[in-house]
Amino acid sequence: MADCYAFPEKTKFLVTGGAGFVGSNLVEEILSQGYQVRVLDNFATGKEENIRQFIDHPNFELFRGDIRFSRVCQQACEGVDYVLHQAALGSAPRSIKDPRTSNDVNITGTLNMFIAARDKKVRKIVFASSSSVYGDEPNLPQIEDRVGTPLSPYAITKKVKELYARNFYQLYQLPVIGLRYFNVFGKKQDTQSDYAAVIPIFVKKLINDEAPQINGDGYHSRDFTYVRNVVQANLKACLAGEEVNGEVLNIAYGEQTTIRDLYDKIAGLLGKDIEPIYCSERPGDIKHTNADISKAKRLINYKPQFDINRGLQETLEWYKEFL
Ligand SMILES: NC(=O)c1ccc[n+]([C@@H]2O[C@H](COP(=O)([O-])OP(=O)(O)OC[C@H]3O[C@@H](n4cnc5c(N)ncnc54)[C@H](O)[C@@H]3O)[C@@H](O)[C@H]2O)c1
Repeated sequence: MADCYAFPEKTKFLVTGGAGFVGSNLVEEILSQGYQVRVLDNFATGKEENIRQFIDHPNFELFRGDIRFSRVCQQACEGVDYVLHQAALGSAPRSIKDPRTSNDVNITGTLNMFIAARDKKVRKIVFASSSSVYGDEPNLPQIEDRVGTPLSPYAITKKVKELYARNFYQLYQLPVIGLRYFNVFGKKQDTQSDYAAVIPIFVKKLINDEAPQINGDGYHSRDFTYVRNVVQANLKACLAGEEVNGEVLNIAYGEQTTIRDLYDKIAGLLGKDIEPIYCSERPGDIKHTNADISKAKRLINYKPQFDINRGLQETLEWYKEFL
């Protein structure tokens, strides 16, 4: 059953990074619920095709701009009720290759967005953090207050965002909530980039009858999270009470799947019998992720409705049509 969210009529959202994977899925849900949405994106990794279907929608507005410029962020927050801040440069390997740009976009850009949200007095700003902040913390499941040392510049940028959020809540009472996403997947996730995620890589290779590469022995594991669960978490976080301001919450399904199992599931759903190629491990990779999601359940009534199997089925239907 579709979720319904009790926002006032004509509520306006700003989705930064709305031309990206998670952002464009958020935009789709906001419009389907009858609310207004503005997208702020510089198309660094986002794509026109992700938002093409919304361009003529009367409740949709596109604002091209870069969050590294404070004036852009101030203008984008004008007249907005809620901000869903997704814009960032993702990927640990990308940040290892070019730490400065990841730092500029993810930290300076987020600082600009927090200041703009404060100045324009938005009702809430919800931002995307990441399971990468758990770093070398070995205990599973991962709980919000127990993090290790970050293993990549990307993870550091996500940790710094969280620190700024807490600090801005304490100093300025900024109504801010951080969501630590765990390996999100779903329609519109990029398959082309050098930094594409594991599910799109497997799907693209297998659809083309090629053998995908697995980094390491394939026994590392992830808490793969279908994007519709992430969309629900964002909208519920907007509606959360004041007591949640300044907090960060794990957003995942709450189950572990090894990369080998993931591969078998995808190959099975696509009807392919191709052996993957095993390669050396990647630096900056966490070995396992598995979220304790009880805090999000308790504080924002988060109820993930799609497990990995259901999410993969929907995702593969989409890739088969659009890839
Ligand atoms: N996809 C995942 O598995 C995952 C996991 C953890 C956290 N996250 C976080 O979720 C958010 C969304 O990720 P995604 O997978 O949709 O990535 P994405 O690359 O598809 O989307 C990011 C969007 O931000 C835009 N952007 C980048 N730099 C910008 C800038 N300087 N100014 C304005 N816009 C800019 C890009 O053009 C793109 O549209 C990111 O913050 C990411 O770090 C994602």
